[in-house]
Amino acid sequence: MTDLILGQVLSFSGDPFLLGPEAARIDGAVAIRDGRILDVGAAADLRARYPEARVHDRGHKLVSAGFIDAHVHYPQTAIIASWGKRLIDWLNTYTFPEEMRFSDPDYAQEIANRYLDLVLARGTTTVCSYATIHPASVDAIFSAAQARGMRLFAGKTCMDRNAPEGLRDTAQSAYDDSKRLLEKWHGRDRLSYVITPRFSPTSSPEQLAALGQLWRDHPDCLMQTHLSEQTDEIAWVRDLFPQSRDYLDTYEAQGLLREGAVYGHAIHLTEREKARLIEAGASLVHCPTSNTFIGSGLFDMTLAQSLRVGLATDTGGGSNFSMLPTMAAAYEVAQLRGQSLHPAQLWWLATQGSARALRAEDRIGNLAPGMEADLIIVDLASTPAIEQATRRAETLWQQLFPTIMMGDDRAVAEVWVGGKRLPA
Ligand code: GUN
Ligand code: ZN
Repeated sequence: MTDLILGQVLSFSGDPFLLGPEAARIDGAVAIRDGRILDVGAAADLRARYPEARVHDRGHKLVSAGFIDAHVHYPQTAIIASWGKRLIDWLNTYTFPEEMRFSDPDYAQEIANRYLDLVLARGTTTVCSYATIHPASVDAIFSAAQARGMRLFAGKTCMDRNAPEGLRDTAQSAYDDSKRLLEKWHGRDRLSYVITPRFSPTSSPEQLAALGQLWRDHPDCLMQTHLSEQTDEIAWVRDLFPQSRDYLDTYEAQGLLREGAVYGHAIHLTEREKARLIEAGASLVHCPTSNTFIGSGLFDMTLAQSLRVGLATDTGGGSNFSMLPTMAAAYEVAQLRGQSLHPAQLWWLATQGSARALRAEDRIGNLAPGMEADLIIVDLASTPAIEQATRRAETLWQQLFPTIMMGDDRAVAEVWVGGKRLPA
């Protein structure tokens, strides 16, 4: 059976950071069959080409690829919006006690289900998540995603020092548990395992080396971690790794820098680090609501011209589950650095940019024949405030920008995962 969705269908034929807004296309229809995009084109053409299709006419609503949130901690769902701390204090005060609760597999399953329902309702169809140190927390998020037919990336967070008792593994157990989970989940349905040392302060060089070895043995996996988020954290890394040239070198020295490395935050980078990241073909993930909420700093978006850059909420360091306020924060952070991101660039970051950062751009994050059919229908007049701001719009971008800046879950009218519409 073919489904034909009519609306303002937004897709990208290239990278708007290199080509400008011309990289975006607007068509009138998208055809879906067997979980994949079959065709994109003018409504009349596709109606004629697929006369048997079930037609879903969504008027002037926007039809887009689902959002991709490239860096989240699903176990931090319940502590989102916790007041008053900067990174290291925030981890010790809120995050670690909450992550301790994931020793209970039932709690892990409850939060995994709650988290995926929250993000799907906001149009996010893929996330790349950290779990906790507990293997059952990885099983919980993968099984919750599998039940929903989602493409999802996740891995066991590894920490063998500077974390409380009960939240530490060892170099050997991190290797063994990660390997077992990788073999269990990686490539099953739409699931991908991600090798996940939390960050250098909570991993000994031996643990980083063990995970570097695991990554060499499984080179098609991604590896995710944090890099240069706050200045205090960077000073701590300098004390912990006196032999390293800089923060990136703590990873590089253990085989944790190459294509497929996905570094969250990456705000306070040295020139050497930038040059090495570019040379290695690594990915960075911009987490703008987290970087303002925890007070970390302003990401340099000019890096998107030379690196794969994705966009993320960083739940629960970030202050929202939705990629719409995340795009708004990315816009504002760039403004503070003297750069005006075009709506095409913002939307691309939340879809194809994040897909590319996760090396999945040939499967998700765009509407083109052969891509997996994860898509959203967006109401561009979802509240009276937004509706009145769009009345004089002459272009799609003028119509879309108020939703980027002021939209929330009410703007996401419908979500399709793997070619199936989710119940409202
Ligand atoms: N650095 C290490 N762990 C974390 C985390 O859970 N959240 C954020 N924002 N930064 C981190
Ligand atoms: Zn994070």
